Amino acid sequence: MNIAVIGSGYVGLVSGTCFSEMGNKVTCVDVDQTKIQKLEKGILPIFEPGLEQMVFNNVKNNNLFFTTNLALAINDAEIVFIAVGTPMGDDGSADLQYVLAVAKSIGKNMEKRLVIVDKSTVPVGTADKVKLTIQKELDARGVDIDFDVVSNPEFLKEGAAIADFMKPDRVVIGADSDYAFELMKQLYSPFFRTHDRFITMDIRSAEMTKYAANAMLATKISFMNEIANICERVGADANMVRIGIGSDQRIGYSFIYPGAGYGGSCFPKDVKALKKIAKENGYKANLIESVEKVNNAQKLVIAHKIVKRFGEDLSGMTFGLWGLAFKPGTDDMREAPSIYIMKELIKRGAKIKAYDPKAMKEAKEFYLKGIESIQYFNSKYEVLKNANALILLTEWKEFRSPDFEEIKSLLNFPVIFDGRNQYNAFHLEEKGFEYFQIGKV
Ligand code: UDX
Repeated sequence: MNIAVIGSGYVGLVSGTCFSEMGNKVTCVDVDQTKIQKLEKGILPIFEPGLEQMVFNNVKNNNLFFTTNLALAINDAEIVFIAVGTPMGDDGSADLQYVLAVAKSIGKNMEKRLVIVDKSTVPVGTADKVKLTIQKELDARGVDIDFDVVSNPEFLKEGAAIADFMKPDRVVIGADSDYAFELMKQLYSPFFRTHDRFITMDIRSAEMTKYAANAMLATKISFMNEIANICERVGADANMVRIGIGSDQRIGYSFIYPGAGYGGSCFPKDVKALKKIAKENGYKANLIESVEKVNNAQKLVIAHKIVKRFGEDLSGMTFGLWGLAFKPGTDDMREAPSIYIMKELIKRGAKIKAYDPKAMKEAKEFYLKGIESIQYFNSKYEVLKNANALILLTEWKEFRSPDFEEIKSLLNFPVIFDGRNQYNAFHLEEKGFEYFQIGKV
């Protein structure tokens, strides 16, 4: 099949590349000329395990193309994916300007029947807006071309996006014509080896499915973080409670790890957007609001523990920090707890020495640009030299089994603050460490 993907960011690039891997001819479009030129040379704007090689192979095999020319790309295609960003607007709602600008260009340039797919996470009702925008352009041109707008939300996890795309749990398709359902099924069938897992529905339910899925997962995390905070106060161990409740299949073991709070591009943004969607439609979403509140507070729990141990005034103190990214396997720092914790410590006079296997460039050049109290190092041990304590915030594999003797010899005090509960408290205390984690004192 011939496919055009508009927007060569995270979702567009992963989706387009995976479709090309299945033998489709895919053209990825972006307005950013430098980005397109770099992609043609195999330089990716993001880090995602396995993606670079897959892009390289498919470009070489003439399955994957990059261009800034939307008109050319869509008229070569049967299916057009809209995968541009929907950043959070000032009021918490998803900003649709890029999605609607693409819809407008499609309407201006389409010459034949197309299925247009919303891949970006968009508020319920957006497909209707996309449809109207395209129709308006067609009317202005005085042409009559049939088209469908489909909602096909993505459920990719950063760091595992290729695997998620190539072997999906499910593919949700919201459409209102048999033609669109059939074409979408044809496109996705090769991704199911044994039996298909299509879930077909109306467009608005498909749009809502994405928000509901992310809000449910965020709720599980905030719920567990709240339980962890109560555990600390009553002398229980959240790690044990997690195992205890997860054994009930109705609850399950996944997404109930207490920690320094959820971050990333999806959960914070989508929870906020869902709250807004509900409000605009006359409903106050109390639970969703609380999920957000709990998470905002959770991002500072480690900072509070540090203040409790070292005092309100941290001036003259240095802390060694392991992990900047919002989770392992990515260089993404969007809404990462590390940002909030470091800023809180710096506000109190502390200095930070930071290490992350992938996210230091992002931190230096963007999220923490110009903050002089943060220094970056290329080794996890180097950041501990003369530091008051180690703070662990991202559970990268290389932090799981470190040399604790070395850590102890480098730190000023044998103190570890662990925002991801990676270590065994008993073993660390035996080795002479003061170990602070989430959900257990
Ligand atoms: C998420 C969804 O998983 C994905 O389906 C959706 O399409 C986009 O959003 P992603 O943001 O890449 O994916 O990361 P994910 O692995 O889900 O983790 C999100 C955050 O939750 C991370 O900050 C992680 O540390 C945190 N988390 C996760 C917890 O704090 N506890 C848990 O038990 C699980």
